[in-house]
Amino acid sequence: MYSVQQTKHLEKVSRDFLKKDANVKDIDELRNTLRFHEYRYYVASDPLISDTEYDQLYKQLEKLEKEHPELVTKNSPTQRVGSTINSSFPTVQHLVPMLSLDNSYNEEDLIDFDRKARENTGLEIIEYCVEPKFDGASISLIYEDDELSRGVTRGNGVEGEEITTNIKQVRSIPLSAKFSDYNIHLAEIRGEVLMSKKSFKKYNELMEQEGLPPLANPRNAASGSLRIKDPKLVAKRSLEAFLYHVSYYTTLEGKKVSDEKNHSKENISKKEAPFTSHSESLKILWDLGFRSPEKEKKVVKGIDKVIDYCKAYEVKRDELPYEIDGMVIKVNDLVLQDKLGMTSHHPRWAIAFKFKARQGTTVLSGVEFNVGRTGAVTPVAKLEPVHIGGVTVTSISIHNEEYIKEKDLRIGDTVLVERAGDVIPQIVKSLTDVRTGNEKIIHYPKNCPVCKSELFKEEGEAVWRCINIECEAQVVEKIIHFVSKDAMDIKHFGGANVVKFYDLKLLKDIPSIYSLGFEKISELEGFGKKSIDNLQSAIEDSKQQPLHRLIYALGIRFVGETTAKTLANAVKEIFDFETMSIEDLQNLEDIGIKVATSIYGFFKNDDNLKILHRLQALGLNMKNTKKQTSTTNTLHEQTFLFTGTMNKIKRNDAEELVEKHGGKIVSGVSSKLNYLVVGEDAGGKLEKAKKINTIKIISEEEFLELM
Ligand code: IVH
Repeated sequence: MYSVQQTKHLEKVSRDFLKKDANVKDIDELRNTLRFHEYRYYVASDPLISDTEYDQLYKQLEKLEKEHPELVTKNSPTQRVGSTINSSFPTVQHLVPMLSLDNSYNEEDLIDFDRKARENTGLEIIEYCVEPKFDGASISLIYEDDELSRGVTRGNGVEGEEITTNIKQVRSIPLSAKFSDYNIHLAEIRGEVLMSKKSFKKYNELMEQEGLPPLANPRNAASGSLRIKDPKLVAKRSLEAFLYHVSYYTTLEGKKVSDEKNHSKENISKKEAPFTSHSESLKILWDLGFRSPEKEKKVVKGIDKVIDYCKAYEVKRDELPYEIDGMVIKVNDLVLQDKLGMTSHHPRWAIAFKFKARQGTTVLSGVEFNVGRTGAVTPVAKLEPVHIGGVTVTSISIHNEEYIKEKDLRIGDTVLVERAGDVIPQIVKSLTDVRTGNEKIIHYPKNCPVCKSELFKEEGEAVWRCINIECEAQVVEKIIHFVSKDAMDIKHFGGANVVKFYDLKLLKDIPSIYSLGFEKISELEGFGKKSIDNLQSAIEDSKQQPLHRLIYALGIRFVGETTAKTLANAVKEIFDFETMSIEDLQNLEDIGIKVATSIYGFFKNDDNLKILHRLQALGLNMKNTKKQTSTTNTLHEQTFLFTGTMNKIKRNDAEELVEKHGGKIVSGVSSKLNYLVVGEDAGGKLEKAKKINTIKIISEEEFLELM
């Protein structure tokens, strides 16, 4: 896309603009540099400037365009953010119907596909292009005169919804692309809009904080996001896109070429055609600035090599930053594609190879209501055991009353269950067509299933709550949360022991963890000397856990692990929060009014303070040790990323160590990364890092030495 020379030039120009603001005569140059940095960040995943520097350049352009509105262009980087869409999206026709793909599930299916293709073309061996099958929302884009003019959802394949403004929020989709360099006047291209696994996780965490049900998978998140009426909100969803197919184009001379019409022969000569194979089209898209599967695809001859590549890809499926649900195998030569043609449903020159399903159907046999540590009463669907991607699922949270209504779930229903990657399984839908009429409506309880007190629902909230703070279920759940892995990480404790000790009145609240009657416990079945020793030392060790873990462990509403870290970093010791106002709290990073009010309320509550003083007296660390030892700034601003399995140190501990010495953890490999620490079985990140020679690649041992 950008030559070495252009890269050097644009980098230099950006540095100049960063030193001295751009002049109005440089407005085009400024736009070009912003487009270049968008490409480096969103398409090449290899940014050359920091986010703040990008923002600085962007603001310069915004300012110049505000001062000179006549100079604003349609494809300016500032024009991604459009006005709010008021009406629902208009329906438009695709230039060529968006067909589906035939599916295959095993080697035999692929061998059969290859046999038919060879028979129909009369060839002995066929060249295929194999690429990932991206699991997102399908879109088609039209570029006319090098400008993005339309973006449409797949819809029913013939017609879709026009979502151009929202498509413009996807930063890896260029607003303009030099198709004319390839003799193309108008092009319709297809692809998939995705939400990365990381963004999806973040999105669901936010939903949970808001008390809203999470989405089942990144695919639903992506397609839902494309239909949001406010483009600014769409932009916040950090959507990405892969473009993998040119379905139609007209040449500058006005000749038409499409999936349905001939690619060569009488229609267009080989000389005039910008590409004659699928892999060439991917390369052109890549060179034009699109994120096409140029790096992910493989061109191979013969079906055996296709099968090998598909299998190899399935193994690394979980390591990819986005979801794929299989591979797509395409006959590479476009003339052969024409020869094979298509059915009304799918092309005969392509087939999808589907990976092991992460979906399954089962029967929803009942519903239990659990009381959480905040008193929220959550319905949990009991399922007939179903195996999905190596895990047996027997129960799934169904969140709240509205969720049950919206999904129309009933006891006795057959339901479709999905486990997307490492995401908690979700019910996608109930299969209402196979109902027998004996299914039962799910009734919500009026009283707490544990303490029987009346349940309440706050206005604007979706959750029913037990507000009796002495409710046993809440106390037990609070203790379970306190000892859990991400909180105080007291090993050998676990939920079952908390319940057992509570029932035996050995535990009554959080501080009592630290004065457990071990003599009594030693009389219990299953508690030999060794297990008691282990438990005792785990409890003792937990007293030294860093402050952010204690804050998270307290289970303050809306305070997740990230917020707990922000809070811990803001104080010298936990009692400093007693004197902080809601405004003080709101001044901290990413803490809004709702979270601030909750934290403020927690530290104004005498019962909570009493618990904290008891914990202090029992010897728990209440201080932000980081703040007091942060003089070790040896790694000042150096960035680290860990990949592969660590054997000598836990990843969490290693990351903490880096931060303790003033270093930073980053989430991806880019030129901003200083150190990649490589454990066992490192994969894609290592490969990527090898290509950037400024990154120091070090082993776990070397890392420990450095520390
Ligand atoms: S090619 C005419 N390539 O999978 C052929 N499709 O299940 C056009 N998909 O409707 C499709 N990744 O939305 C193609 N690399 C890829 C794909 C891909 C995902 C989607 C596409 C299609 C669906 C079929």
